[in-house]
Parts: sequence; structure tokens; C-alpha cells
Amino acid sequence: MKPFKNLSISFFYFFVSTLIFIPLLAYAARFDIKNNCNITIWAAAVPGGGRQINPGGTWSLEVTRGNGHIWARTGCSFNGSGVGTCQTGDCGGLFQCQGRGYGAPPHTLAEFGLSIADSNLYDISLVKGFNVPMIFSSTSLKCTSIDCTGDLIRNCPTELKAPGGCYNPCTVFKTEEYCCDASITNCKATNYSMFLKGGCPGAYSFPVDGKLTQYMCPSGNNFNVVFCPLGSL
Ligand SMILES: *[C@@H]1O[C@H](CO)[C@@H](O)[C@H](O)[C@H]1NC(C)=O
Ligand SMILES: *[C@@H]1O[C@H](CO)[C@@H](O)[C@H](O)[C@H]1NC(C)=O
Ligand SMILES: *[C@@H]1O[C@H](CO)[C@@H](O)[C@H](O)[C@H]1NC(C)=O
Repeated sequence: MKPFKNLSISFFYFFVSTLIFIPLLAYAARFDIKNNCNITIWAAAVPGGGRQINPGGTWSLEVTRGNGHIWARTGCSFNGSGVGTCQTGDCGGLFQCQGRGYGAPPHTLAEFGLSIADSNLYDISLVKGFNVPMIFSSTSLKCTSIDCTGDLIRNCPTELKAPGGCYNPCTVFKTEEYCCDASITNCKATNYSMFLKGGCPGAYSFPVDGKLTQYMCPSGNNFNVVFCPLGSL
């Protein structure tokens, strides 16, 4: 029986190390962030920091696990210490965005969660408004490609117009009807959220926009984030 016992011990260690390391690998994903706009984008990612992406350029970002988000910043200027401002999506005036926060509205937001068993969750949210059209898709053709390519800047209602984008109504009106801060049970679509949804059918357009706008894709697949998929901004 002895050889079998040793064998089962080494199997035990193999099993334990598999349990520890395979999930770390399984959760990891690469995000290829492409700037298809005809202007420079300062991409922001938490985790990940920031990167200037000239027209036609790509930033390949590896994320090992956890939740995060990616967005475009426009009209930025930073000094040699990486301190400055952006017209849209500014993250505390830093070139390298930190922590797990968001940028200043308005900005179109790609969100993901890489820690849900063997699936990754992803969505586009307009809860921070809209600045740049976006497609957020998986490299697996079996998973949904989320399309946010409507011209929400030119068609933006006057009340929501922002330099370089279109605000979400919560940012402008700061009322419970639009923000749903106190309670999500009465949170409903509004004429403004329906306008936003019209340009980005697959996106969250208000805080409680149904489960249909969050997508799942088996882990092991990577993601593409394309700014201005239709070309110029
Ligand atoms: C960049 O700007 C910040 C804030 O104004 C300042 O503290 C820092 O010294 C500046 N760095 C350079 C290299 O100019
Ligand atoms: C949306 O609804 C508000 C409040 O009912 C109204 O004042 C506003 O004009 C509407 N805006 C649009 C773009 O329909
Ligand atoms: C980008 O394209 C738009 C629309 O074609 C055009 O109006 C704008 O001038 C272009 N911007 C640059 C920097 O080329």
C-alpha cells in the first residue's frame, strides 16, 4: 500500500496547487483598447492607470482579476509629473488614474468583473454620461458585442450638453428621480435615460437598468474596447 500512499500525497499536492493557481490564470484577461477616433484619447483604466493613445493606436492591458473599468479621456494636458486636467473623464487631475474610482462625468464607461467563478461579467454604463462612442466585445464570437455608437453628443438635449460630451441627468439635476441614491426600488427609466439608451441599446442608461444590460462570457477569453468604432468622433 505504501507506494499508493505516496502517489496519493503527490496527487494531493498537485490538486491543492491546481486549486490555488488555476483560478488566478482563469480570471486574467487582456483588454485591447483601440483608439479609432481621429483625435488623441487618454485612456483611463482602474486597475491599470492611463495611457495616451494616438489615433489608430492600441493599449494592451492585462488585468489579473477583480472588478474594474475603462474609459476614454479627451482634451487632456499633463505636465512632466503627470498632473493636469482633461475636458472629459478626468481622474483627479492625474495621468495615471488610481484606486478604483471613476472619472469626472461625462464619460462612456466599460465595466467588468473577472472574479465570478468561471465567467466574466461586462457591460457599458452611461450612468456617468457619454463622451466617446464605444464597442466593448469579447474575443469569443459567442459572447455579446455591446454597441454604444449612437451620436449622443450632437443629439444631446440642451439641458444635458457638456463640453466634449453629454451628461447623465443625475449629474445635472441631482434629484432622486435620476440618481436613485436613497432607494433603487423606485428607480425607473426617464425620458433622458431613454434618450441615452436610444444611442447605446446595450448599455446601462440609469442605475437600475435590468439584468439584460450586463453580459457574461466564459473566462479565458479576452476583450476589445474600441473608441469611435465608426471612425471620427
Ligand atoms: C505639475 O503640476 C503640479 C500641480 O500644479 C505641480 O505640483 C508639479 O510640480 C508640476 N510638475 C512639473 C514637472 O511641472
Ligand atoms: C424630460 O422630462 C422633463 C421633466 O418631465 C422635461 O422638463 C424635459 O423637457 C424632458 N426632456 C426631454 C428631452 O424630453
Ligand atoms: C475628425 O473628424 C470630424 C468628422 O469628420 C471632423 O469634423 C474633424 O475636423 C476631424 N478632426 C480632426 C482632428 O481631424
